[in-house]
Amino acid sequence: MILSAKARVAGVMGWPVAHSRSPRLHGWWLERYGIDGAYVPMAVPPDGAAEAVRALPKLGFRGANVTVPHKEAVIAALDRLDATARRIGAVNTILVHEDGTLEGRNTDGFGFVENLRAGASGWTAAAGPAVVLGAGGAARAVLVALADAGAPEIRLLNRTRERAERLADELGGGLACPVRVLDWAARAEALDGAALLVNTTTQGMAGHPPLDLALDALPRAALVTDIVYTPLETPLLRAAAARGNPVVDGLGMLLHQARPGFEAWFGRAPEVTAELRRFVLEGG
Ligand code: ATR
Repeated sequence: MILSAKARVAGVMGWPVAHSRSPRLHGWWLERYGIDGAYVPMAVPPDGAAEAVRALPKLGFRGANVTVPHKEAVIAALDRLDATARRIGAVNTILVHEDGTLEGRNTDGFGFVENLRAGASGWTAAAGPAVVLGAGGAARAVLVALADAGAPEIRLLNRTRERAERLADELGGGLACPVRVLDWAARAEALDGAALLVNTTTQGMAGHPPLDLALDALPRAALVTDIVYTPLETPLLRAAAARGNPVVDGLGMLLHQARPGFEAWFGRAPEVTAELRRFVLEGG
């Protein structure tokens, strides 16, 4: 696609950024919709986040996505945060407004919930308690999104229990449902009566051992999801599907979290389709 001098430009800041699938994802939509725009990878070293963000309006960028390790560091360089980014304490999407001011948003939780809605028809967070494994940055966004979507209770378990307690304390008061921290050793029992099981730990990712979790107590109707998408079918999802649970893989979270940014920068609400999924996967 040949750009005009009026092309809208956005991109993704990360370090390393070479593994990001976002340029391929946004590039597919730009081409599909015939938009005069570009979405570029930006390799921003760990100490360069603030400087890079402040350069966006000066360079005429519409905005950017932000990925590891910059999601928290960019906050100090922004003029404002939307309510969700403020609660999560991390930003994945930046908008440059007409007056040059910078707004930070967090669409990871939106992507998480939209992926479940799209992947498991009829799924609702209100169906019952959710079990969330892990207490890192991804878990933060998942907790806020599940509480906002109407989960009646969240059971939070992390190998290092104190980290889960800290997360529950930090978010707790601001969430619409109780967060109960349970012991990692009791993870199999924690599945009893759950309507949703979410793995946000690195266990099951390529190069890591599988999650060590017996699913026997999990109701068969419970939805199981993993936010990891390398591999697409983690050992957890395979085991859950084999016993008849509905499962949703993590790739859709990446695809859906990208929608609000694309719409804001390029002026068109993009669609997540099976063809897009295949195209992003082929990118390796
Ligand atoms: P992110 O911010 O992307 O979610 P992270 O902060 O590195 O990633 O968190 C990784 C998660 O995987 C943590 O919850 C971590 O547990 P600890 O807080 O105890 O480190 C979890 N994790 C990593 N290795 C694990 C293992 N062998 N067993 C169980 N959980 C593990």
